[in-house]
Amino acid sequence: MTQDASIDYDRYDHVRPIRWTGDALELLDQRVLPFTVVHEACRSSEDVAEAIHALTVRGAPAIGIAAAWGVVLAGRSLEAGDAADAARQLEPALQQLNAARPTAVNLAWALARMRRALAAVAPGQDWREALERESRAIEAEDLAANRAMGRAGAALIAPGSGVLTHCNTGSLATAGFGTALGVIRAGVADGRVERVFATETRPWNQGARLTVWELGQDGIDATLIADSAAAHLMKTGQVQWVVVGADRICANGDTANKIGTYQLAIAARHHGVKFMVVAPSSTVDMATASGELIEIEERDPAELLAFRGKRVVAEGVRAWNPVFDVAPHDLIDAIVTEQGVVERPDAARMRALFG
Ligand code: MRU
Repeated sequence: MTQDASIDYDRYDHVRPIRWTGDALELLDQRVLPFTVVHEACRSSEDVAEAIHALTVRGAPAIGIAAAWGVVLAGRSLEAGDAADAARQLEPALQQLNAARPTAVNLAWALARMRRALAAVAPGQDWREALERESRAIEAEDLAANRAMGRAGAALIAPGSGVLTHCNTGSLATAGFGTALGVIRAGVADGRVERVFATETRPWNQGARLTVWELGQDGIDATLIADSAAAHLMKTGQVQWVVVGADRICANGDTANKIGTYQLAIAARHHGVKFMVVAPSSTVDMATASGELIEIEERDPAELLAFRGKRVVAEGVRAWNPVFDVAPHDLIDAIVTEQGVVERPDAARMRALFG
């Protein structure tokens, strides 16, 4: 396994999407990157729910972290006698945050942790402080998990390899360093990854607007391709691994991720390219048996009909805009988490690691 000492985090981890100022949550507005770098301040849990829904903050771990801070904000605006009273009063805010997006399980996972943190507050203890401590812990644990996954995932990649990634799974989508992008950062740092390709990731262009910008901030060279160029890229032999993140990993290893992931997994298997999913255990949902049970978010068809606010499709045309899909477990070579790696995942191997 690669040594931590070989990764210079000051060089390979610059961007932070979420800043807690003590009385507001500042989110790096991912709708306007890369040409406008501006933070949006959320001062209430409603603001945070709206920012999650609008994709101001996005990426499964990042929306979980933002939601946790949303609960802290909600706690500041209420008077409660004790933690149990606070828990009752906070429930509508928790539910509103949970409803902001349906597919990434990290959202419900983070809110469940906030509920448990409140339930564990002893009489006389400050429940607001307990909520803030839990938010900080969720954020710190995510960063540590990403760094661990970076090392574990990079170790699977042979020196001199090319990789293709999809969507944005980097610092922008997490507390820092990233999941799939963390593996790529670690792989570049130790010379295993020589070529990085990123898909545009239509319709929201997370790859074109965010991933190649974020890698550029760290001085990592990446080549952008159209989504439709992926199979051809694989055929040319320039990539040995597809490395992606996840929004929900089921008990049998089926993985929901950004729309287009499924077709990448099929094309990878056809071309003998390996397929790696990188996600913290907060993305693992052992309560969902398999992929067809996952709710797939469908967004406004306007995202397909217009480009940068300007309509580019003839009036009257209908569009369908599912924004996630499910890669079945038998197309996945490795699921990398901070708790360990599941190779050729299935229900038994998932159970062996996650119980
Ligand atoms: O719609 P988005 O941009 O939130 O979708 C993000 C993805 O699908 C990511 O691949 C996933 O959340 C993992 S981010 C570490």
